[in-house]
Amino acid sequence: MDNTKTAGKQQSIELISRGGLSHIAFIMDGNGRWAEKRGMPRRFGHSYGAAAFKKIIRYCGDIGLKTVTVYAFSTENWNRPEAEVNSIIKLLSDYIDECEKSADKENLRVRFIGDKERFDENFRTRMARIEEKTSQNGLSLNVALNYGGRAELTHAFNTLIKEGKTEVTEDDISSALYTAGQQDPDLIVRTAGEMRLSNFLLWQAAYSEFYSTDVLWPDMSEHDIDLAVENFYKRKRRFGKV
Ligand code: IPE
Ligand code: IPE
Ligand code: MG
Repeated sequence: MDNTKTAGKQQSIELISRGGLSHIAFIMDGNGRWAEKRGMPRRFGHSYGAAAFKKIIRYCGDIGLKTVTVYAFSTENWNRPEAEVNSIIKLLSDYIDECEKSADKENLRVRFIGDKERFDENFRTRMARIEEKTSQNGLSLNVALNYGGRAELTHAFNTLIKEGKTEVTEDDISSALYTAGQQDPDLIVRTAGEMRLSNFLLWQAAYSEFYSTDVLWPDMSEHDIDLAVENFYKRKRRFGKV
């Protein structure tokens, strides 16, 4: 890599065009801490986090990524206080409405990954409509909603059992996941300094590179993405080889 350059948009475009990095998955963490630091209720953190999310997705498309996955709400997040859960679900519902309006303008192919059964029929219908309406668009966006890696694997095994399988291959499992047919993430970025997966993409992350930044998600900037991209291209992925 040319060390005279510093992380920036042009460098990210150039690096990504070399290949090897097409899918980033984000664990968008730190919304609550961001708000608490400002003496604000946690829901403000989620609201600013939603704004950061839109900015970051757009930038990921601009620099040439093909797929972005975001962890928006986990199967465990239902255990938060009801008011906080409601404020997050409201933001997600607003985002679905926005997607509906901008489906033709934004080049985003939106898919929801997670257990949709937990949501009411209206919510599920709206999610399905966005998936259908955007299915021919370019940049793939997976929104992990009521998502848990263990729940996903359990669901996959049960699907295979119902199909009558008594023995499965790795390909069978991959194709029964919510992410069937999609490439695994090359890079998982977690904000707010934590160093854990928190039940995210347990199967798909087998060989993903992991990058943690102390930046709290609502503060996540384009430059922070450039730093993650630069860092990724300094790694040596060995996939078990020498
Ligand atoms: C991430 O931010 C958003 C969700 C989990 C929905 P947090 O709400 O987890 O923020 P912290 O970790 O409490 O700061
Ligand atoms: C992971 O963050 C879930 C999402 C970002 C949606 P959490 O804040 O829920 O994870 P833990 O509790 O720190 O492991
Ligand atoms: Mg958190």
